[in-house]
Amino acid sequence: MSILADKHKKLERNVTLLAVFSFIAVAIGGIVEIAPLFWIDNTVEEVDGVRPYTPLELAGRNIYVREGCYSCHSQMIRPFRDEVERYGHYSLAAESMYDRPFQWGSKRTGPDLARVGGRYSDEWHVQHLIDPRAMVPESIMPPYAFLAERDLDHGDMSAHLRAMRRLGVPYSEEAIEKANEDLAIQADPMANATELQKRYPKAQVRDFDGNPDRLTEMDALVAYLQMLGTLVDFEMGEPQEEPR
Ligand code: HEC
Repeated sequence: MSILADKHKKLERNVTLLAVFSFIAVAIGGIVEIAPLFWIDNTVEEVDGVRPYTPLELAGRNIYVREGCYSCHSQMIRPFRDEVERYGHYSLAAESMYDRPFQWGSKRTGPDLARVGGRYSDEWHVQHLIDPRAMVPESIMPPYAFLAERDLDHGDMSAHLRAMRRLGVPYSEEAIEKANEDLAIQADPMANATELQKRYPKAQVRDFDGNPDRLTEMDALVAYLQMLGTLVDFEMGEPQEEPR
């Protein structure tokens, strides 16, 4: 028998020795996986176009979370052919980097919503949320008609944005200061939205619920749905990763 096999036999027959060497082997694997994370700046590769939510989108997102839409809808398109053909380009990590909490979900009673923005008109969303069966006869989605009747009670959005910044979302001091104004401006087609759109590129400004006299929960939720998946430009080929 060779010397090597002899040594191995010793190792296998001595429990303590085996435990010590097993520990060393596992520790090497662990270090190789974990140690690099301490030296790279970010585990998410940044992608052009991804920006924090506007105050109105954020308020709509809060309603999405409050109503538990995530219990039937995921927001993550997996990189499989059937998913990509149905929903569009698979989700990038960067697209949910400002989500606190994330809405990936694990249950699809309804379709994935990661790229639902722009797929339907505002009127479609409003009618669908008021009475899903009016738009999709076989739908089992519950109606949310009350959203169109309730004024949007968003609280102090400046405080909300500041809290998000503590969690790592890069809102500027100016964005925080103007948060309440920005929220109102985005749902008011008559307002001057130049500043808002400079702060939040691609922000869609209009009356979302078809009722220009009121700012309702429906306005906020539809504003949120209409921006989902619209920030990264996939038409130009593969998304441009920012140089690091
Ligand atoms: C009980 C499960 C359930 C809940 C809760 C639910 N949905 Fe749905 N949703 C569905 C189903 C099923 C469909 C597919 C049929 C249809 O279009 O109505 C759907 C479809 C949709 C669509 C159309 C998607 C597409 O690509 O055609 C949108 C948008 C949507 N839901 C938004 C919401 C929002 C916003 C909420 C929360 C306010 C919500 N849903 C809550 C089950 C649900």
